[in-house]
Amino acid sequence: MKKRKRMRILKNKNVLLGSGAGISIYKTAYLLRLLKKEKANVKVILSKNAVKLINPVLFSSLIKDEVFFDQFKPYQYKPDHINLSEWADIFIIAPCTADLISKFKNRIADDLLTTTFLSFKDKSKIILAPAMEENMWNNVKNYVTELKKEGINIIEPKKGELASGKIGTGRMEEPENILKEIENFFLKKLPLIGKTVLITSGATREYIDDVRFISNASSGKMGKELATLAENLGADVIFITGDSKVLPDIENIIKVKTCKELREKVLKNYKKADIIIGAAAVSDFTPVKKVKGKIKREKGEIIIKLKKTDDILEELGKRKGKRVLVGFSLEKGIDIKRAKEKMKKKNLDLIVVNPLSAMEKDKTDAAVIYKKRIIRLKNKTKREIAQHIFKIITFHCNTPLRGVYRRGE
Ligand SMILES: Cc1cc2nc3c(=O)[nH]c(=O)nc-3n(C[C@H](O)[C@H](O)[C@H](O)COP(=O)(O)O)c2cc1C
Repeated sequence: MKKRKRMRILKNKNVLLGSGAGISIYKTAYLLRLLKKEKANVKVILSKNAVKLINPVLFSSLIKDEVFFDQFKPYQYKPDHINLSEWADIFIIAPCTADLISKFKNRIADDLLTTTFLSFKDKSKIILAPAMEENMWNNVKNYVTELKKEGINIIEPKKGELASGKIGTGRMEEPENILKEIENFFLKKLPLIGKTVLITSGATREYIDDVRFISNASSGKMGKELATLAENLGADVIFITGDSKVLPDIENIIKVKTCKELREKVLKNYKKADIIIGAAAVSDFTPVKKVKGKIKREKGEIIIKLKKTDDILEELGKRKGKRVLVGFSLEKGIDIKRAKEKMKKKNLDLIVVNPLSAMEKDKTDAAVIYKKRIIRLKNKTKREIAQHIFKIITFHCNTPLRGVYRRGE
């Protein structure tokens, strides 16, 4: 059996990595490398004293980006502490000094790092990895207990050799273990972990001769957003695509040209999937005969006879078992009646109805129908529509997914 690739939980996650003026800041540089290897988006913020202990150039050259430490930089249209706190999916401070702990507890904001800390609305996004001499630790431990009660996550310091050479509690956790804690933080929030989502996308080609074909204007934007979101929610994604202007940044992409090829690849892969989303614009018709070579212009007028292609979704509807099956319906307007008929005929769990004008556009109106409900969406981006679809799948569908996503998370 093919070995599954290791899932990169931190890929595209916004990690704000902070550090105080503690001796274990040398480990922070390594932690930064580990985060980058996992393909996280990382920004570094140093306390005002950290930059006295280490030159920020070390971090900026590792990250190949600006390092933040100056609260009063000129030309800030929106202050950095606001930008950074809004940008971050997680704020990890390693090492967190005794001084920083005391300031956090007492709401002191006297540099960029402490001000950014105070700018976080959701304190559960913050992880502190304290590191200091044992006596210092004993003097700030109570503050740490208080910060924990506020929802802040703590990676407890370990017992071992300290900077002074003494043995005691105060060693910062090793970067590899801090990385695991950061991954665990995201794992808890991923409703599709362990699930496989198969998505079809783009336009198919139906060949008239060896060079000409019938196709459509599908851009593949919807499929791309669905695949990106599915992966961000923790799923393994199988992405089968025809012609497309855009592709998601995922590993498992299978390219096809015709409806026949798409059908073959879908039937080969659907058994691995828990959720199947048919977002491809599959041609409904294909030439009865494909001419070898190139039809000569001298022929003048020609008639191309077309026949219906196989309905892949309908076929899946018969075989789907407990899988969630999602289809799209593109019609002149938002035709709910026709969409409901399609839903029944193809045994779909959910159908997204969009008008012809949705083709190639970034924003569109749509309606999402599932069970007995209709959700009407006005002028939404394809990303927003993808979010609605996955929200419904994970919350409501009577499928094996039920219960994976807990309300309020
Ligand atoms: C070489 C050196 C190493 C230090 N290591 C630590 C440490 O590991 N933990 C700590 O809490 N303070 C340590 N300190 C003391 C802090 O740097 C000091 O309390 C400083 O005010 C902390 O500033 P900050 O928390 O704003 O970065 C160290 C100081 C020096 C000079």
